[in-house]
Amino acid sequence: MIYLDNAATSWPKPESVAKAVYDCIRESGGNPGRSGHKMSLEAGRIVLDCRDAAAGLFGIDDPMRVIFTSNTTDGLNMAIKGILQPGGHAVTSSMEHNSVARPLKALEPQGIETTFVEADRLGRIDPEDIERAIRPNTSLIVLTLASNVTGTIQPFRGVGAIAKRHGIPFLLDAAQGAGHISIDVKADNIDLMAFPGHKGLLGPQGTGGLYVGDGITLNTIKEGGTGSFSDLITQPDILPDRFESGTLNTPGLAGLAAGIGYIKSVGIENIRGHEIDACGRIIGGLGEIGRVKLYGPADPEAHAGAIAFNVDGMDSTEVSYLLDSEYDIEVRAGLHCAGLAHKTIGTFEQGAVRVSAGPFTTEEEIGVFLDAVKKIAR
Ligand SMILES: Cc1ncc(COP(=O)(O)O)c(C=O)c1O
Repeated sequence: MIYLDNAATSWPKPESVAKAVYDCIRESGGNPGRSGHKMSLEAGRIVLDCRDAAAGLFGIDDPMRVIFTSNTTDGLNMAIKGILQPGGHAVTSSMEHNSVARPLKALEPQGIETTFVEADRLGRIDPEDIERAIRPNTSLIVLTLASNVTGTIQPFRGVGAIAKRHGIPFLLDAAQGAGHISIDVKADNIDLMAFPGHKGLLGPQGTGGLYVGDGITLNTIKEGGTGSFSDLITQPDILPDRFESGTLNTPGLAGLAAGIGYIKSVGIENIRGHEIDACGRIIGGLGEIGRVKLYGPADPEAHAGAIAFNVDGMDSTEVSYLLDSEYDIEVRAGLHCAGLAHKTIGTFEQGAVRVSAGPFTTEEEIGVFLDAVKKIAR
């Protein structure tokens, strides 16, 4: 089987990730931060190690500003609903995943408006368009690091600088990029960042996080037990407790720490180099097949892994079905939870086939995939 759906969730994971999850379940089964006994303390250490690892990767000075979540969607909801107030306004793009678009739309009845800045046909937004959309009541700019449909990397650093200049909090959706594209929250002027543990960071599903920058105040969207200040029936203010109610996914976080450890040991620039190489081969190979239409930028360096294409006259789901059933190759078709992005690139009716290599994808696997598309297109 050839797995080319790393934009959905990465596979395979490093052996060290599977081992860390297994060891945690076998040996460190306590509830972190809930008791004073050895098992609980050991679980707490595992969580802390993961917090340190994530903070280190993203240039976050204070690891307590890393809030663990179940996935990116959780973090995006916490940030969007925690910061926007009635009468407020948000600026985002037409390339967003539904986990940005839907929480923003859900706030409309509260008098919170959103401007969806249009990207071009390649999925690129112009930072100046973001700046032009700013109003006196704009209290959030939220942008995807890279499109999960076309893989187009957005000029997020430029947008971060604009947000800073206007004193508006900048939320980055790092679902497509964390772990393969370098992020430094300070240098990139990122105030809030939602990231998955289960994609580029190579951790297990059920993991993710939200970075909350210094000076950012968020309302909670969930309250409950934190293991701290149990004498109070109000939510504690300290981080990360304020946003981490309920038992954490300790085995998942053990695996996530190992995933981040793997990235650090290989070097994020080497992982990125492999990704650019894979994107180049896929774009180049698909471009030579008659009847194949590619979307997004032609330059592999402008991609964060995902590449979208269609075979003329075929539904995208038919192509992915044939790849799976006839050739044992796993890709994703349809609208990828991002209808707005498909409208932007003109594939809302047909959808598109998305192929996304990962750090373990080989040149040979890409060759087999390209041969299979060639046969299907014929
Ligand atoms: C750009 C983008 N944002 C958000 C998400 C949601 O991620 P999660 O499944 O971790 O909640 C995804 C998932 O594919 C994504 O690609």
